[in-house]
Amino acid sequence: MIFVTGGAGFIGANFVLDWLAQSDESVLNYDKLTYAGNLNNLASLNNDARHVFVKGDINDSAHLCGLFFEYQPRAIIHFAAESHVDRSIVGPAAFVTTNVNGTFSLLEAARTYWQSLEGEDKENFRFLHISTDEVYGTLAADDAAFSETTAYAPNSPYSATKAASDHLVRAYHHTYGLPVLTTNCSNNYGPYHFPEKLIPLMITNARAGKDLPVYGDGLQVRDWLYVKDHCSAIRRVLEAGRLGETYNVGGWNEQTNLSVVHTLCELLDELQPKAQGSYKDQIKHITDRPGHDRRYAIDARKIEKELGWKPQETFTTGLRKTVEWYLANDEWTKQVQSGEYLKWVALQYEDEEEA
Ligand code: NAD
Ligand code: DAU
Repeated sequence: MIFVTGGAGFIGANFVLDWLAQSDESVLNYDKLTYAGNLNNLASLNNDARHVFVKGDINDSAHLCGLFFEYQPRAIIHFAAESHVDRSIVGPAAFVTTNVNGTFSLLEAARTYWQSLEGEDKENFRFLHISTDEVYGTLAADDAAFSETTAYAPNSPYSATKAASDHLVRAYHHTYGLPVLTTNCSNNYGPYHFPEKLIPLMITNARAGKDLPVYGDGLQVRDWLYVKDHCSAIRRVLEAGRLGETYNVGGWNEQTNLSVVHTLCELLDELQPKAQGSYKDQIKHITDRPGHDRRYAIDARKIEKELGWKPQETFTTGLRKTVEWYLANDEWTKQVQSGEYLKWVALQYEDEEEA
């Protein structure tokens, strides 16, 4: 079986669902179920014996060690993290605890288990670390896209803790020979995306008749990738990635935030028109994010050339599927927009004047 951390979150849940749709190899899914973890994402697996869910914290090395020796996974795919940049600005401590200390505990438990293996089991074992393009910092408009050799220059507490975890993973390969792989992916979007992030926040706010809060001038650029394309890249790296290597994953799809919000409004205008006017009327420019990275762009040539991976969705097809998913899944949205979510929205957006 494979061992997945953070498999109840946005990307992890999509990965587990896609994995079990394509393979009979079981998944041990280890997740703390923070505000971002949601077992409803995995409801379709409720009677599926191939999915074993264990609630736990990646800082609990004894728990992790016990599970490794009990289930003998052939690979670990490490998604678990605190993932929202704005929350890292308001409260960075949880990011250090989970992203740095937690990854360290997981590496230690994995090393203990891996060192106990022999022969092919030891040779074929993999530790796949899921990271982000944000570790490379920010780009000017005419800079070349991030490649695997771009120097790390993280700017937010979130990206700094992800960079630290990447360095630990690299060091465990260099020092102990732990068979690691790292992927650094651009912004994902798609089903089960928690509505604190730009795309699901805009869809849910638009439909609720609320403001669409664009930070600053909205001309910051992100490189968007449909989540299922990220999942296929992870499967490919797990299958054929070279040990100790990092692979940048992206959709060759740079968009300004304002353009993303406009496209979402146009899709909603078509699929669920308002009685009067356009959803664009709800756009409100508010105070910018402190230290806001201006542009991310991924050069994905390494994974494309070496491993033959390519995204299947364009931004047009992926965004339409995403909007349709939210329109068809009101219950899911209602459930996640509960107590903790409301507190966050009040803290982050209430009393925001037009910028
Ligand atoms: P998410 O916030 O939606 O999910 C994170 C999951 O990790 C949740 O299920 C949560 O309960 C779990 N978790 C948090 N702390 C934990 C702990 N201490 N122990 C065990 N489980 C814990 O995040 P996501 O967007 O799905 O991101 C998954 C991974 O992919 C992260 O490592 C993130 O840095 C990386 N990533 C995300 C994106 C993106 O656009 N979302 C892009 C590139 C890389
Ligand atoms: O690049 C990969 C990263 O993408 C991941 O590592 C992170 O886990 C993930 O959260 C995401 O980070 P971003 O900060 O780019 O995503 P977010 O959806 O929070 O914001 C996208 C852009 O939209 C960013 O420029 C900030 C802006 N934004 C965001 C929110 C929530 C707004 O203008 N208004 C908002 O209300």
